[in-house]
Amino acid sequence: MEEEKIANAKIIIIDDDVNMMEMLSVILKKYGHSVYTYTEPVSAIEEMKANKYDILIVNYLMTPVKGDKIVELVREFDKEIYIILMSVHKDLAPSIDVMRKLDIQSYFEKSNRFDQLILMIQSGIKYIEQLNKIKNMDKKLEHYLVDFAQILIKVVGAKDHFTEEHSKRVAMLCSIFAKKLNLSSKDFSDLQIAATFHDIGKIGIPDSILLNQGKLTDEEYNTIKLHPVIAANIFSVSDIYKDIYPIIYSHHERIDGKGYPEGIKGNQIPYLAKILTICDCFDAIISKRPYKEESSIEFALSEIRKNSGTQFDTELANSFIELISNNKEEIENFLNNC
Ligand SMILES: [Fe+2]
Ligand SMILES: [Fe+2]
Repeated sequence: MEEEKIANAKIIIIDDDVNMMEMLSVILKKYGHSVYTYTEPVSAIEEMKANKYDILIVNYLMTPVKGDKIVELVREFDKEIYIILMSVHKDLAPSIDVMRKLDIQSYFEKSNRFDQLILMIQSGIKYIEQLNKIKNMDKKLEHYLVDFAQILIKVVGAKDHFTEEHSKRVAMLCSIFAKKLNLSSKDFSDLQIAATFHDIGKIGIPDSILLNQGKLTDEEYNTIKLHPVIAANIFSVSDIYKDIYPIIYSHHERIDGKGYPEGIKGNQIPYLAKILTICDCFDAIISKRPYKEESSIEFALSEIRKNSGTQFDTELANSFIELISNNKEEIENFLNNC
């Protein structure tokens, strides 16, 4: 077979047959690939955890750990690596079901037909390139979504400047609180989006009520209380934001069940909504509004303490009070510049 240079891949080979492995290594290097060989699976797996590889070539029949077990362990932390399983004879290979379950993309029967293996590696490189393209598209899409979110915030701001500013501050407070709570990156990002848009439902409230600077009648107040429902309706049309709208929908619920719109209590309330509620109320208390003066941080914290266990989750309230009390100056600076 004529040697043809193909794109360079980072390949790791695990095989207890040293001669075979060395032969493979020499051939693959000739094709421009970077090749790393291991006879011992445990150290190979440690290496793969520490460094990213494109392709794994693993022998099936090894002792004491068989190739499919190695793949199972690798798949726990790397779903992307392209895997080629080798065996001396196809009768000794695992079943197709096992290969499918473990997401093993190729099977190579050990022989001198290395051209077949080279073709498999080319397929692996194409697979990785496609995967990278999809990832880039996801990044672009995310970027567009953030852009679109900025437009939506401005739409809200055009009608109600207080809500726009308040939402920005609540999102910042949530991000600081989320870091203290060690939220996963998915929860962190869901909370950020929910905080940014938690009051977007106010867009559906008549101006005469929303911008009313005086005291609201009961009927007007009940209309304002519809804003989580309106917001959740807006977000429910989007599949991408399907995890966001329950957080927004529940941001006025209370632990004692006296909140709205559902009056759910305790652990019925989504965890991220409970975090959002605390940051939301804290900002509402310290902010100046047309109908009220701003209050001090100390007063806001005393209100959160007073209402912990009834309005707010006790553990989260304590954690938030500790966070703000220990970083009062930074929080004050950030709120002034927000
Ligand atoms: Fe709200
Ligand atoms: Fe709010």
